[in-house]
Amino acid sequence: MEIINRRQRMTSVARKVRREQDKTIGLVPTMGALHEGHLSLVREARRMCDVVVVSIFVNPTQFAPGEDFERYPRDLTKDTTILADYNVDYIFAPTPEEIYPKGFATYVNVEGLADQLEGAARPGHFRGVATVLTVLFHIIRPDFAYFGQKDAQQTLIVKRLVRDLAFDTEIVVLPTVREDSGLALSSRNAYLNGEDRRAATILYRALARAEAAYLSGERSARKLAEGVRAEIEREPRARLEYVSVTDADTLERLDKLDDRAVLIAVAARIGQTRLIDNIVLNKQKGTGALKMP
Ligand code: PAF
Repeated sequence: MEIINRRQRMTSVARKVRREQDKTIGLVPTMGALHEGHLSLVREARRMCDVVVVSIFVNPTQFAPGEDFERYPRDLTKDTTILADYNVDYIFAPTPEEIYPKGFATYVNVEGLADQLEGAARPGHFRGVATVLTVLFHIIRPDFAYFGQKDAQQTLIVKRLVRDLAFDTEIVVLPTVREDSGLALSSRNAYLNGEDRRAATILYRALARAEAAYLSGERSARKLAEGVRAEIEREPRARLEYVSVTDADTLERLDKLDDRAVLIAVAARIGQTRLIDNIVLNKQKGTGALKMP
């Protein structure tokens, strides 16, 4: 396993792999602080591709002012040790200057999809995500890139980015990995103290309750959303930011659920920590399909 810090070295290694060795490349883009959710992506990349690259880069442009960019957990040594056990070929861990050279002035906006939910709560977030992924995809030119369903809106935006700008990369989305308690794995869980960690399980419990209501025949988006809200509000340490019930592929708001796949997404603060989670109902009808058509 080689750790690469320079953009130029990464470009030339990836070019060689593709052209001279005719091998497929799988990219797992991360911001480090790796957990089992990331590792499920790495395992799938290892299964599908000849060469696996994991990028580790805490991307400054996707954090709004006042967010947790400075204190975001960083431990490259620990991440490297973990990845050594997963037969990863390259870690790409650039400095900010390698990704955003002096005078950097080109940003990528995915319109519409990026304006709601997380985009509305975190202005500029998806512009930063789309921009850094565009740079990474150009440097590495992966055949496949891997993302977790926990960031549901991000997966839709990345698929749209790849389609609209004709990247030759297939996006693979894998299920959210959860603790036994139901808590979705996230690097930000590191911020949770014991009490907050217990309280954070309310998010999945509320979503699971909505799923149970749906399975019992509830088709009103408003009633499902109200149920999620009521459940989360029972937890004194939680402050709900939003609950949304939308078409899972377009993020169009729904009144009545029909035979489309439906995304129920929540964002809440547990103590000081902002967490997101979601479930997809009626998955086989929509975005459950892991790849872009
Ligand atoms: O999901 C993340 O960790 C980040 O948004 C990503 C995709 C690595 C881009 O910085």
